[in-house]
Amino acid sequence: MAEQGLFSSDFISPTVSAALPEGYTARSLRLSDYDAGFLDCLRVLTTVGEISQEQFAERYQWMSSQDTYYVLVIEDTSRGKIVGTGALLVERKFIHNLGLVGHIEDIAVAKDQQGKKLGLRLIQALDFIAEKVGCYKTILDCSEANEGFYVKCGFRRAGLEMAHYY
Ligand code: ACO
Repeated sequence: MAEQGLFSSDFISPTVSAALPEGYTARSLRLSDYDAGFLDCLRVLTTVGEISQEQFAERYQWMSSQDTYYVLVIEDTSRGKIVGTGALLVERKFIHNLGLVGHIEDIAVAKDQQGKKLGLRLIQALDFIAEKVGCYKTILDCSEANEGFYVKCGFRRAGLEMAHYY
């Protein structure tokens, strides 16, 4: 039996699964993805740091207890390698009748896999989850350089990001 992931496979879009290249699969993050290059995939995006297997497991277990984190991966099953990842966080609000807002975070496609529509599939898969969970909108922050990508994924510029670093 396949190892259980962070979230149920019911949240994986059948349309996205069907559109992926042969041998690629979209699924929930699993504990064993530590050994399948998950963190290396994220290194395409930013600094990850040296995270031990134990630290990874601790964070994974915490996320799995929250009902908020949907960390998705795309695996090249022929190599057992994670080639793409992205996360949806579901924020539970008081406003808008206890509305739910999706936040797309940490989208990364391995360098040698970019340009194969994997980024688009990740966003479509996260959008599917957001709709299924009941979010009324999904938002994200990105650099100007990535605006075109998100426009192709159906997003539009709305508002302005501000940050306070500590
Ligand atoms: N600017 C404009 N258009 C783009 C860009 C870009 N930076 N990147 C891709 N596109 C276009 C493609 O040409 C394609 O267009 P087409 O449908 O006309 O052919 C469409 O967007 C879909 O492209 P994909 O092949 O799905 O893109 P890819 O798999 O290469 O993934 C991504 C794009 C995720 C930005 C990838 O390049 C990456 O991992 N970059 C480094 C990490 C990063 O910047 N992540 C996003 C951070 S923002 C966040 O996480 C919320």
